[in-house]
Amino acid sequence: MEDIDSSVDLDPPIPPVPGLLFRGFRGPEDYRLIADLLRAKALADCRDDDSTPESVARDLADSAGFAIRECLALAVADSSLAAYVRFHRRVESDNGLVYLIALNVLPAWRRGGADAALLGWAEAAVARMAEADRASGVLGSGAPAPCVAPAHSSDPSKIELLEDRGYRLVRVFATMRLPAARVSSIEAPPLPEGVSIRRAEACHYRAIWDADEEAFRDHWGHEAPSEDEYRLWLADEKAFRPELWKVAWDEASGEVAGSAWCHVIADKLFVDSLSVRRAWRRRGLGSALLALAAGQAPGLGVSEVRLNVDAENPSEAFRIYRDFGFEDVSTMPVYRKDLSIPSRGGTA
Ligand SMILES: CC(C)(COP(=O)(O)OP(=O)(O)OC[C@H]1O[C@@H](n2cnc3c(N)ncnc32)[C@H](O)[C@@H]1OP(=O)(O)O)[C@@H](O)C(=O)NCCC(=O)NCCS
Repeated sequence: MEDIDSSVDLDPPIPPVPGLLFRGFRGPEDYRLIADLLRAKALADCRDDDSTPESVARDLADSAGFAIRECLALAVADSSLAAYVRFHRRVESDNGLVYLIALNVLPAWRRGGADAALLGWAEAAVARMAEADRASGVLGSGAPAPCVAPAHSSDPSKIELLEDRGYRLVRVFATMRLPAARVSSIEAPPLPEGVSIRRAEACHYRAIWDADEEAFRDHWGHEAPSEDEYRLWLADEKAFRPELWKVAWDEASGEVAGSAWCHVIADKLFVDSLSVRRAWRRRGLGSALLALAAGQAPGLGVSEVRLNVDAENPSEAFRIYRDFGFEDVSTMPVYRKDLSIPSRGGTA
């Protein structure tokens, strides 16, 4: 393989790794490279991902005011992508301001230096961003810069890297599955009195979005969504499948009481979001919505139902899923490291 050791147009530059060119974002063609990498990585890690150039463009557009160029670094091998890192700023209801670092490396390049180099770049870039955020008052003047990085049990090399660099585990999410063959044996519990399920029409989308957002306010890492995110949700041609949703309405008030959003990737039905607003909780509505959503699996010809859940979900969703018969597939540990204020020249 040609020994490319350049790091172009990246600030700070990345130390060379044989066979890789590190560079910044160059334009829409990079959306395709990133989508290809995400799908290849998921396939290698036995996970599901249906990223497209369009979905990557949408995701990168949500950079909380950063230019994509400032918060994305790519490692290119020949004409394909070996790895990339991206960070963006989030203001979470419980954790306050955090810098979320997403590092994605193809299996062939793991532990080869690219992963550590990209993470180091992201930390240095975050440290600089945090300096500007302190100056503008977005971050407290003496506050460290909290970096949050998700990992996955299918990639132990990333977990090792994060732990080696001083990140500590703060939360664990789980991916769970229920085989379609077992769905038919589940009987949907009755809906609470005065609540009915109706087909989602376009005129309901905003109310359904707002109800879900309200229900998730006490969820770990919740961030109040922007209007842009609402528009991106409506425009997501793969995940936005209202014909597969189950929406519960309170007949007396005409309000949305809860909903389950679903979409299909390959041969799996994903329950993307299950929520019940507080006033309607603990009356069996969440269980009913889940049963109705999952109950679509045999008719759709999929092999299983999947969902992701915070293992410490404050409303005990994890236990509800377990009681339903969902079993663990994998875990997604989330790590955090607080970068202290650099003392002239380096970061902690
Ligand atoms: C998780 C969530 C959807 C559950 O909704 P819900 O309508 O409260 O769920 P259910 O009523 O079906 O079940 C919850 C509890 O109420 C109990 N319950 C069900 N029917 C009941 C009734 N008639 N009377 C009293 N309790 C009842 C259930 O048994 C369960 O409690 P238990 O497991 O201790 O027995 C809801 O709390 C929520 O929206 N949370 C925030 C968003 C979220 O975290 N979603 C999950 C993301 S993965």
